Amino acid sequence: MIKTDFSGCRPFVGPQTYDAALRRAHESFEILEGGTGAGHDFLGWNYLPSQIGRKELNEYLSVVEAWVALEVEVVVVIGIGGSYLGAKAAIEALNHSFSDLIGSAGGPVVVFAGQNLSEEYLAELTDLLKVRSCATVVISKSGTTTEPAVAFRVVRDLLLRKYGREGARERIVAITDARKGALKALADREGYRAFVIPDNIGGRYSVLTPVGLLPIALAGYDIDELVRGARDMQRLCAKNHDDNPAIQYAAMRNALYESGKDIELLASFHPRLRSFAEWWKQLFGESEGKQGKGIFPASVLYTTDLHSMGQYVQQGRRNLFETVIAVEKSRRELLIERDADDLDGLNYLAGQSVEHCNRMAAAGTRFAHVDGGVPNMQITIRQVDEYSLGQLFYFFEKACGISAYMLGVNPFDQPGVEDYKQNMFALLGKPGYEEQGAKLQTRLAEEE
Ligand code: PA5
Repeated sequence: MIKTDFSGCRPFVGPQTYDAALRRAHESFEILEGGTGAGHDFLGWNYLPSQIGRKELNEYLSVVEAWVALEVEVVVVIGIGGSYLGAKAAIEALNHSFSDLIGSAGGPVVVFAGQNLSEEYLAELTDLLKVRSCATVVISKSGTTTEPAVAFRVVRDLLLRKYGREGARERIVAITDARKGALKALADREGYRAFVIPDNIGGRYSVLTPVGLLPIALAGYDIDELVRGARDMQRLCAKNHDDNPAIQYAAMRNALYESGKDIELLASFHPRLRSFAEWWKQLFGESEGKQGKGIFPASVLYTTDLHSMGQYVQQGRRNLFETVIAVEKSRRELLIERDADDLDGLNYLAGQSVEHCNRMAAAGTRFAHVDGGVPNMQITIRQVDEYSLGQLFYFFEKACGISAYMLGVNPFDQPGVEDYKQNMFALLGKPGYEEQGAKLQTRLAEEE
């Protein structure tokens, strides 16, 4: 199971401050479990791991089988925010670092679209899809989000031209609401295979629904293990005890926030966790950043960023704290060999693994940052695999729900995201936005 170590926070948070935060975390836990807080209609993720059944997992695996039979080489996962970040986090963590060149885990290559409006990105995607056997999973809970809708129109048109209506139908899966939205209507009309995102689970808490599990299975990874990890973590985080790690983490980050540390850096020494940090940032950023409150979630990848951000972290404004995802066991071993000439002066490391150097870098960084005024939390997983990722996903979801209630905000809405959408609709001339569109067009003209 994951291990937590908050000793690097002790110089910054006294026992009384932590105990007070811990008491509030217990209260927030009660609110979460009791379903008495704001957004309580969106608590489906809380008990989800223990409810996922064999039948459900087999349905995802049957899509994998069907697409293997069709010799699909590229699967385009279309979605934005919570509708793609979890899958991307897991697939990137599990993939070979050079899977683009060396091939993936035996499944098709999974690529992502609908997470931006870049014309070049989409046009280049069509270049790829023209020359590879392809299929798509389109994911949108609302079924109306512009970015994935545009990407799906482009990808679907291509599939229709390439495989015909029947052929395209075999290569399209939709994941959306059970009843409403344009995607639901289109999937029904065209007879696409569809999976439902439960009503009571919001996008950023949906990685353990088909939203995350189907793409991860398609990439060739073991979703049973992922769910097993999440299930074990659900059990560990189920009680309102001081030793519940989700309660501890929520309490400590809020204690730090109250003492002026309002930026949390999720740090890792493992580049395969880069997209995991993106998932984490969305989870905490969208759940907590509202009503003028919230810990700003940022991420760094060490040792890479020690040579770019390291100076700021060590000596810049003292409003940061770090949460490091540490990994106990490397999946590979690579030893540094002795060299007869030793011109690079590295023979003192001969016989050591590269991972040993990475660990010493991590320990040295921790000491330096704590000494420099940056509190440090460590969350250690055994190894980067499906089981540990399942644990991490659930752990952070649970901690986020508790933490947001400690801040006094609704962890499950995102009202601020609407503002840019309304402006974009108005500027694009969407019917119903004429008045706002005229005003914004005037502002745009003034800028030019
Ligand atoms: O967490 C969330 O709810 C959001 O990030 C959504 O996942 C994102 O906006 C995409 O929405 P949809 O799945 O409705 O297209």
